[in-house]
Amino acid sequence: MEFGAANRIKKIPENFFAELDKQVATIGAENESVIDLSKGNPDIATPQHIALSLKEAVDKRENQRYTPFKGKISFRKSIQKFYQQQYGASVDVDKEIAVFHGAVVGINAVPQVLLNPGDYVITTDPCYPEYDTAIELAGGKIYKLPLLQANNYLPDYAQVPKEILARTKIILLNYPNNPTGATASASFFDRSLSFAHANKLLVVNDFAYASLGFYETPVSIMSRPGAKENALEIYTLSKTYSMAGWRIGFAVGNSSVVKSLNKYLAHGHSTVFGAVQDAAGTALESSQECVEEIRKKYQSRRDALIDGLKKINLEVADTRGTFFVWVRIPENYTSVSFAKLLLQGAHVAVAPGNGFGKYGEGYIRFSVVCGLEKIQEVLQRLRVLKVKEGF
Ligand SMILES: Cc1ncc(COP(=O)(O)O)c(C=O)c1O
Repeated sequence: MEFGAANRIKKIPENFFAELDKQVATIGAENESVIDLSKGNPDIATPQHIALSLKEAVDKRENQRYTPFKGKISFRKSIQKFYQQQYGASVDVDKEIAVFHGAVVGINAVPQVLLNPGDYVITTDPCYPEYDTAIELAGGKIYKLPLLQANNYLPDYAQVPKEILARTKIILLNYPNNPTGATASASFFDRSLSFAHANKLLVVNDFAYASLGFYETPVSIMSRPGAKENALEIYTLSKTYSMAGWRIGFAVGNSSVVKSLNKYLAHGHSTVFGAVQDAAGTALESSQECVEEIRKKYQSRRDALIDGLKKINLEVADTRGTFFVWVRIPENYTSVSFAKLLLQGAHVAVAPGNGFGKYGEGYIRFSVVCGLEKIQEVLQRLRVLKVKEGF
């Protein structure tokens, strides 16, 4: 028997990255030559001391039971110390921290707890595609501000029409930014906070690439004055500590929002495995040398890729953060047709920019989630393809 999906499921698209997997599979299921740089799936191993901490934590009786709905107090204290040390931001362990299974859960939870039907979220175009579905599933509406190279890929709030602003509850940002690689300055966050304050909005910064800055340490919105009034920051250990499969993240910020989040998460997501929380606490509290090593690895790959792409005359944004490289495609192609050409002609999978929004058209995104040797192999294949296709 076939059961029809509910309207809310019918309305949302398939996960963009799951769709990319299907396209890669059409060429690469049994073809080992495909180099898949289409998704941001970290290839670097989780540092050993973190994995070891998990192994030990598994045997603890307290972790074999349900853990507290709000997250273990030990983990919340680790988060508190981490935010203090890294960003000079003080957060209350009871009122200003929510713990969940990775940033995607937090991204979906925030609209659920704040939006009534028809309320707006202002976000950017391009943006991480999960934002669209998170807002849609919560019955909200989306207003997108373009991210343009001319504005350093920062949104211009003056463009929001008054009637939309009156119905807006949330501004959803993501700096360092996927897919453009842009970073936000402290003054941009200050501008965002004062705009939010004046219009009674919550600014959410998805800080998924918190540790990946190449010119400066990325700014936490929680380090800015007024953040506790009008901001929430979503943090994940997926990229900072190469723990994407572990499913652990948290939010810090405005206490009224955290209270609603904790209520929603306790019903909708229950608790996070205590051993994962213990290991995540180890990650946050131990030496951060491993974070710098991971960052340096991504930087050397990014540098090599950008350098090589420029040499074949492709226009590449000088990304300031993340592990993405945002590349302008040659004329006479769309982002989909150029991505297809790279996949079929060079067995290199990249993400077409239009998957991140209409302002992503004209671009493709590489994730530098393979070693330097493979990056060189990608560049060699592109050089050969360029000669053949003449782009
Ligand atoms: C902007 C952004 N937010 C969130 C996530 C997902 O993070 P998590 O693994 O914690 O769910 C990603 C992953 O690629 C991302 O690019």
